[in-house]
Amino acid sequence: MQGRRILLIVGGGIAAYKTPQLVRLMRGVGAAVTPVLTTSGAQFVTPMTLSVLAGEPVHDTLWDQGAEAEIGHIQLSRQADLVVVAPATADLMAKMAGGLANDLASTLLLATDKRVLIAPAMNVRMWDHPATRRNLAILQGDGVLTVGPDVGDMACGEHGAGRMAEPEAILAAIRAALEPGALAGRHVIVTSGPTHEPIDPVRYLANRSSGAQGTAIAAALRDLGARVSFVTGHATVPAPAGVQVIRVETARQMRDAVEAALPADAAVMAAAVADWRVVNGSDQKMKKTGDLPVLQMAENPDILAWLSRAPQRPRLVVGFAAETQDVTAHATAKRLRKGCDWIVANDVSPATGIMGGTENAVTLITDHGAEDWPRMGKDAVAAQLAARIARELA
Ligand code: C5P
Repeated sequence: MQGRRILLIVGGGIAAYKTPQLVRLMRGVGAAVTPVLTTSGAQFVTPMTLSVLAGEPVHDTLWDQGAEAEIGHIQLSRQADLVVVAPATADLMAKMAGGLANDLASTLLLATDKRVLIAPAMNVRMWDHPATRRNLAILQGDGVLTVGPDVGDMACGEHGAGRMAEPEAILAAIRAALEPGALAGRHVIVTSGPTHEPIDPVRYLANRSSGAQGTAIAAALRDLGARVSFVTGHATVPAPAGVQVIRVETARQMRDAVEAALPADAAVMAAAVADWRVVNGSDQKMKKTGDLPVLQMAENPDILAWLSRAPQRPRLVVGFAAETQDVTAHATAKRLRKGCDWIVANDVSPATGIMGGTENAVTLITDHGAEDWPRMGKDAVAAQLAARIARELA
């Protein structure tokens, strides 16, 4: 952390009383701290306390002519290596999620091109409120890192989730965000989402894939420092920040995009690629004529099978298998048929609620056999898989 600069934004919550301790910890490991205080933050911790501990002046207004003349708020947000918001109040999170910029803190957060780590802190009901849940999901989708909150007794007398993480835990998260991850210098291609196969200019064949698992995997690989080429069909979830997004429509476009992204150290093929395309489609919208159209199909390229045997094959090729019965047996056979190294298999029978849901229960098939992972969030599956890939490429 020596010489790294942290822009520390202190929001208006009682947990701000822990922030001076966080500043001391950061300074203690050699980091430079630029403190920014919101108007309500100043109700809980004084500018004097923060500036003495940081050894730097506190910034607390957008309208400081001196500061604007010297560096300006855009500059302030760019010169840091990392932006930390602690405590991140419900209000600050809402502003961030909505892209508001009506005071110094929110303006810096909108102007920065650096990673942002938030330590949420609020009353348990505010934390559980659907609006905060929504804002958190938006922020995570934007690539914002989070630490905490913890569960425990709160200053307001209630008990539950919403206590700000302890300063030591925040420091550990800062360290993790700043240090090059286990996949630094690696390039990984991730395919995700459904492909669309046109019938005419307005109609297409598609499938129900949301792209959620592939998106989570791309974000998890990014979090470990990988350079990610994210080749995606029309997913219903937004693409993660901080990855190279290559949007495609059809299976053939997806294959070409994967080929163009090579070479890579690893590839994770999580897309739901259409097996067939329509060959007697029309350039013009097809009209009702009284006769029923008969669609003729041709087989699409199997991207996973092609990549697994390509001359520029990545060292590690991971495929997916969505099955509705005999998951392990089918996936084990698929691994051999496709020629990939690993298969991540899951049961997508409607009763599991996995397809289009937020959780997944997967079996990882490698050359050592099958491993059943417990049911967990798609983000957690992604994080585990990314860690596993990092181990394999180490
Ligand atoms: O054969 P099946 O579609 O079940 O195989 C699933 C795996 O193969 C997934 O990893 C999927 O991304 C990949 N796949 C592909 N190209 C296809 C079909 C499937 O890359 N045309």
